[in-house]
Amino acid sequence: MSSAALDPNEVQTKEPGRMLGSRFTQLRSWVADPLAFMERARKQGDVVVADIGSQQMWMLFKPEYIEHVLLKNAKNYSKNTRGYRAMRVAVGQGLVTSDGDLWKRQRRIANPDFHRKSIAKMADAMVDCSVEMSEEWRASAAQGESRDVGHDMMALTLRISCRTFFSVDVSGGVDRIGDASTDILGQFLFHMSFPVSKPEYLPTPGNYRYWQSLKVLRAEVQKMVADRRASGAQKHDLLSMFLGAVDEETGESMSDEQLRDELITMLIAGHETTANALAWCLHLLAENPEVLTRLQAEIDEVVGDRPPTAADLPNLPFADRVLSESLRLFPPAYVFARCTEEDDVIDGHLIPAGSFVTLPAWVLHRDPRLWDSPLQFDPDRWLPERGEGREKFAYFPFSGGARKCIGDRFAKMESLLALATLLQAVTFTSTAGRSPVTNPSITLGSKGGIWLDLSPR
Ligand code: HEM
Repeated sequence: MSSAALDPNEVQTKEPGRMLGSRFTQLRSWVADPLAFMERARKQGDVVVADIGSQQMWMLFKPEYIEHVLLKNAKNYSKNTRGYRAMRVAVGQGLVTSDGDLWKRQRRIANPDFHRKSIAKMADAMVDCSVEMSEEWRASAAQGESRDVGHDMMALTLRISCRTFFSVDVSGGVDRIGDASTDILGQFLFHMSFPVSKPEYLPTPGNYRYWQSLKVLRAEVQKMVADRRASGAQKHDLLSMFLGAVDEETGESMSDEQLRDELITMLIAGHETTANALAWCLHLLAENPEVLTRLQAEIDEVVGDRPPTAADLPNLPFADRVLSESLRLFPPAYVFARCTEEDDVIDGHLIPAGSFVTLPAWVLHRDPRLWDSPLQFDPDRWLPERGEGREKFAYFPFSGGARKCIGDRFAKMESLLALATLLQAVTFTSTAGRSPVTNPSITLGSKGGIWLDLSPR
């Protein structure tokens, strides 16, 4: 595979697979079900092109191609895509949406705050929020009730984000943060899939709500930044960490505007992804009672009845494998995209400059060429001896290379502590007649929720 400038020894020799049908038909089937669309595309080859309305979309289906885009030739693959442009309107130039020198500087400043030691300070807040949810679950279990754990996990991760980022409870005025971020996320998808550019400026009721929500979120976060700066209070939260963070190369810290954009970015990037990861994990556990029993036994042995702590996590290896396996089967970031800055050649396929290139984690994570019994929920496939020979980019729930998710450790710690706390309190089975249906939106959610019947332990 070539670098950005074409390698004269590696010229275009191969034609990509193509999806059949008019632009309109392809757009319609992509919007109706992107997961099924990508699965169908995979049957057309390892590099496949589709015409999605006005846009040509490239799909790459081999781990080495993913590695090429994310790692080996990452500088040629920017975030200059329509989706990221739509996001930039909301979150400005935060870590997720920025590129180039600005991104490099911001990542340098933020990196130390996501090291293991820094985020371990947030474990207590994560557990406190999980205990509150487990009390609600205990009460439901005592009544033999079913719950939509998709909805519950959204509430839980929002509560955790608000407490670990700003040290505030999601109540009173701060509820507005939750409502506003939910509205904003809801509108992103609409903006991304709309067939004209800049749909966020159309005078629709949805857009009116979107702009109102953005105003609320910005004002709330800005106020928290100003209050904290004025009070000088030091807390174990991201806001204090970011306020004190300094670029080791230049000695600069973040401006108030940059701080606001970064905190909103973290909220948007971290809350729904982790909620969906947890909800699908609970679904898989309910469908696989032997795995649930084994996981509960591990938690009982290591943690017992006391609240879990960050120090327990290395002693919960099975829980870790359960989470890895559920991120394989239900990756919240089921596909993500890049724009080719200059012509590139991937395994003989010419990818012209300006192409919209997608990395379909959903398909690679379930590819029978890469995984034995790919649809089986088998946490032990993550035992080191069973991973030998597996290609690195067969699995990339948090992306990879320099732009790998900065919150991966945070998300894992949050998910494991939440799982341990909830599983101490109750046990569960899937609610009959309410099998969840995937809802591939901005992240991989579920239509109609994920319902479980809870019982006391
Ligand atoms: C299970 C939960 C999560 C999953 C599956 C996930 C997945 C991802 C993926 C795939 C990307 C790369 C997107 C791209 O390059 O196009 C990403 C980036 C990012 N994520 Fe996460 N994420 C999760 C949780 C979090 C949390 C909890 C936070 C914050 C506390 C967070 C903050 C970010 C940020 C800031 C970026 C941009 C990093 C950069 O480009 O430098 N994520 N995430």
